Amino acid sequence: MESYYIEGGVPLRGEYRVKGAKNSALPILAATICRAGVYEIYDCPKIGDVFAMLEILKSLGAKTIWEDDCLIVDSRNVDDYAVPESLMSEIRSSIFLMGSLLARGGEAVIYRPGGCDIGRRPIDIHIAGLEQLGFEVDILDGKIRCKGICHGGKITMPYPSVGATENLMMAALAGKGDTILENCAIEPEIVDLQGFLRNIGFQVFGAGTDTIFVKGSYGNSLSKNSIERMYFVIEDRIEAATYMAAVIGTGGRAVFRNIRPNIMKSVLDVYERMGAIVRTSDNMIELWVPKDLKNAGIVVTQPYPGFPTDCQPQLMTLCAKAKGLSTIREEIFESRFEHKNQLIKMGADIETCGKNAIIRGTEILHGREVKAMDLRGGAALVIAGLMAEGTTIVRDAFHVQRGYEDLEKGIKLLGGLIERKRESKKEKT
Ligand code: EPZ
Repeated sequence: MESYYIEGGVPLRGEYRVKGAKNSALPILAATICRAGVYEIYDCPKIGDVFAMLEILKSLGAKTIWEDDCLIVDSRNVDDYAVPESLMSEIRSSIFLMGSLLARGGEAVIYRPGGCDIGRRPIDIHIAGLEQLGFEVDILDGKIRCKGICHGGKITMPYPSVGATENLMMAALAGKGDTILENCAIEPEIVDLQGFLRNIGFQVFGAGTDTIFVKGSYGNSLSKNSIERMYFVIEDRIEAATYMAAVIGTGGRAVFRNIRPNIMKSVLDVYERMGAIVRTSDNMIELWVPKDLKNAGIVVTQPYPGFPTDCQPQLMTLCAKAKGLSTIREEIFESRFEHKNQLIKMGADIETCGKNAIIRGTEILHGREVKAMDLRGGAALVIAGLMAEGTTIVRDAFHVQRGYEDLEKGIKLLGGLIERKRESKKEKT
């Protein structure tokens, strides 16, 4: 068991290079199965969810190895299409093996995926889409068996689900016919997946818009010849938003490199509304707060380009010390306010009612022993610890390590006082 020990009250200052995106790397790693090959993946974050995905790829027969900052995945000898339940339940992104295994061999056996406990998170849109593409899907005792040949066609998704868009993009690759996906999610990570799939020879167009076209490649050379390719994963806009919240929450100033302002617009708009000064150039964002934080007014989480639900907990922490009243409406996930009670332990004044959280800013947050309940909620508690007076202990740091590579190193780089400590169960109590 590991915990973060944080001394608050130090303004974060300096420079930070944003790492590769978790929510891009995971579907891309699953996509290495779509076609036999040796892939050099650069800027893939060294995080818990990636390590879990690599265990899945290895269980299917792939070889994976890190060479410094390059992750090499060799999927030529993949000879299985069934993912063990134990590995499926580790991460939500295990669901992507459904699409990539169907593209590779027309068969996939999986189980319900795991992931952050932030809502019901059904996979009905994935399943309905696969059936519309012509695949047979049988669900028995939790085992989901999909097989068949994609005949292509037009599919209109009932909701722009990120995961379903990415999964159906992959499942349609080996289609006998072409596929048009409508009402797609338009997140930058979906554009990155399209970039990878095109890089390995598939024809996919339209990602980043609500309509994606996938050319069926059934029976052509793609499935016969293996290839060697390299690919760079895009930057992690959620990691960037998290560090930026820590900087403005502590009254600091920092420059972020390897981050495109245009994919951060909704977040920067809210930070500016709270009083942050933001300077940008193509691949850089500098920000600081001259005075105390102002409230955020009303913020509603929405699919991209709206305010990301993955930045909601970090924003709640900022609002806890901002002047006045802020309202956050969580529209994407049903139970993504688990961090609220931990923040209240630190002195925050927060009320929730259904999808709404009302936050009255308080002068001081107090260092306390708190518990991370999920990935982004855990990151929000680390930020609260940096903003608080005294010492904060964030237990169950593993939640945070699933999605942030060396968070404590990054915060130390910006002058923050944080230690990660391994503790035995006995010590923890
Ligand atoms: C992706 O999850 C991200 N994960 C999530 O990030 C992110 O919060 C989410 O998109 C929304 O932006 C990855 O990319 C690996 P969805 P995903 O399908 O694909 C409902 C993080 O912290 N839905 O767009 O699971 C669902 O219940 C994580 O990095 C159905 O009803 O999100 C939710 O309410 C957390 N049926 C909404 O749609 C379905 O079949 C959005 O889910 C699929 C989804």
